[in-house]
Amino acid sequence: MASSKFILIFVCFIIGSLMRSTNAQDPSKLTLEYYSKTCPHAQEIVRTEMECFVRADPRNAALLLRLHFHDCFVQGCDGSVLLDDTEILIGEKQAEQNVNSLKGFDLVDKIKEKLEAECPGVVTCADLLAIAARDAVVLVGGPYWHVPVGRLDAKEASLDLANNDIPTPQQGLLTLISKFWAKGLSATDMVALVGSHTIGFARCANYRDRIYGDFEHTSKYNPSSEAYLNKVKETCPLDSGDDNISAMDYASPAAFDNAFYDQLIRGEGLLNSDQEMWSSVLGSQTADLVNKYWADPGLFFKQFSDSMVKMGNITNPEGGEVRKNCRFVNT
Ligand code: HEM
Repeated sequence: MASSKFILIFVCFIIGSLMRSTNAQDPSKLTLEYYSKTCPHAQEIVRTEMECFVRADPRNAALLLRLHFHDCFVQGCDGSVLLDDTEILIGEKQAEQNVNSLKGFDLVDKIKEKLEAECPGVVTCADLLAIAARDAVVLVGGPYWHVPVGRLDAKEASLDLANNDIPTPQQGLLTLISKFWAKGLSATDMVALVGSHTIGFARCANYRDRIYGDFEHTSKYNPSSEAYLNKVKETCPLDSGDDNISAMDYASPAAFDNAFYDQLIRGEGLLNSDQEMWSSVLGSQTADLVNKYWADPGLFFKQFSDSMVKMGNITNPEGGEVRKNCRFVNT
């Protein structure tokens, strides 16, 4: 009796594993040709929309790039970040690093509408984000890379993982490195990917501690940059203005270039987490990379492209579906 029960459990386990594996996502299954027959114009459609958004406001490039990053760090790149809260699903939009911060969901909706009009039920929201992030970078002067596609959209999201896995600006270098390691990304990938902060803005709430000196023991602000520091403090008072924004690369906030690394070398990184890569006493390897990416923009572009593909290849082993609306799982 006990042995037949064991056999039944064993058979159920095997069937369960097989069912899961038929829908499971294997990163090696991502290909450049995935939509070549089913939606041959998918890439052009995303590109045309992105051109329109970035022409209207270059910040839109930063929004889409960050969305892809926050998608990939939670369950893999599976569009989970795009899901709205419903009665039966708790999304990731209220996570500490996302709430009042992550934007661009309306832009994703617009791209998805165009894709659905051309080839209904074919292109996933996760792939849409990966392609849009690449186009975002190119449209503000950054490198081009081929985006392997074929990701599936998750049927679930995880607020807990979003709270735990997405790095925060208050974290020290070793924690940041370990968070990237946990996703299969090296310190080299991290230093290159954080180069994304060459575009876009941060809210005062995220850099107040740094500019008022609370991080003196980790990343001390360069005292010779007093004039710049005072300007940033005007935008970010000690006790108000949480949502006021400053550019992370004040030299060229709307251009994807390597000026961000120069700022770190000057001790002027806006986020403590950014400055850690150059200033941390534990960061000789990361500081070395910062120096290299400032000295050689071509090297930065090459590593950034490679690391974006690597980050984009983090798939959700649970598999999923092709969502009709990026905000909701299919019914
Ligand atoms: C150490 C890891 C990272 C930390 C701690 C971090 C943290 C942050 C913070 C705090 C902001 C400002 C958000 C706000 O104030 O509302 C931000 C903005 C941004 N991040 Fe990161 N980030 C990291 C890595 C990355 C990576 C890997 C990417 C892309 C591949 C990325 C892309 C961006 C972009 C484009 C913005 C500007 C968004 C905008 O203008 O709204 N970040 N990041």
